[in-house]
Amino acid sequence: MRIFAIESSCDETAVAILNGVDGVLCVESSLIRSQIDIHTIYGGVVPEVGARQHLEMISPMIARMVRPDGAGIDAIAVTAGPGLAPALRVGVEVAKTLAWAWRKPLIPVCHLEGHIYANWIDSVPEFPVLALIVSGGHTELVLMRDHGNFERLGETLDDAAGEAFDKVARMMGLPYPGGPAVDRLAVQGNPKAFTFPRPMMNRDDAMFSFSGLKTAVLYELRKNESRMADESFRADIAASFQEAIVETLVEKTMRTAWKCMPKSIILAGGVAANAQLRDRLKTATEDRGMTMHLPPFQYSLDNAAMIGAAGYFRAVRGISADPLTLVVDPNQDI
Ligand code: KG4
Ligand code: ZN
Repeated sequence: MRIFAIESSCDETAVAILNGVDGVLCVESSLIRSQIDIHTIYGGVVPEVGARQHLEMISPMIARMVRPDGAGIDAIAVTAGPGLAPALRVGVEVAKTLAWAWRKPLIPVCHLEGHIYANWIDSVPEFPVLALIVSGGHTELVLMRDHGNFERLGETLDDAAGEAFDKVARMMGLPYPGGPAVDRLAVQGNPKAFTFPRPMMNRDDAMFSFSGLKTAVLYELRKNESRMADESFRADIAASFQEAIVETLVEKTMRTAWKCMPKSIILAGGVAANAQLRDRLKTATEDRGMTMHLPPFQYSLDNAAMIGAAGYFRAVRGISADPLTLVVDPNQDI
């Protein structure tokens, strides 16, 4: 089954063709156009500006990837939520039009489900699967007993992990998006230079909270205002903050894994691109004899191949939407 997939939930316009045969997936082509340069000027994503960029970029990207009559495509998958409504609408309206014109099934996909299914690209995680989703808007632990079966075991009470990275980066004057900038700076720093809180570690559940950690970093920066120009001080802050957040994510995931005993643990969402998180989670999992799957690095951040992957398994289950009436769901959850 060849799925044409579209993703436009935030600041990346993306299209892909994904081929699935008996549950084994392969990305035939994937295009991603980032809007980072434009949003950097504003220090974050401006929804209407983002939507206009999606509108300008999406048609030429589609024309590069598929024939005008849609020949060779079996279904169209599109991110229907969660995300920014004006941005989501661009992808969804284009997908509806293509599905109607080509007479092909239209498959709405939850963006978070897409991040999870990035782990099925070039790999087949065994169920039950415990997924740690860490993105700009979400931090969740989800148990999957089968395809399409999601039980949310825990989530953040306030900031998402990616949001904490972005906010700390902004406090330090690092460019948007903050996660990659903190990740790069942290490599040069000492993770033990500052002791930041490991939030919610004393609670025996799968809940997270990152706003206190972010505030602790803010206080440390205020205390040391005169050292802000010192590169090694900034690197130590970045490394110590990253250490606290990564340790919390890994520890909570492993504690949850002990309770539900999954066959595989997977990592999903933009923060899955973080080198230290990938490394630590893999080591912790293997030390305990569990199997870890990581999404291919290029499919960790927002992309359409992951939407095609989730779309494939939805298509196999016979899920589709009416191409004339599908609407976006900005607050959709897994
Ligand atoms: O999944 P994603 O691309 O978009 C959402 O669905 O939210 O995730 C974006 C988030 C941003 O907060 C970004 O700062 C973070 O992922 N991120 C990272 C890294 N790369 C992206 N955080 C930490 N380390 C990274 N290398
Ligand atoms: Zn995402």
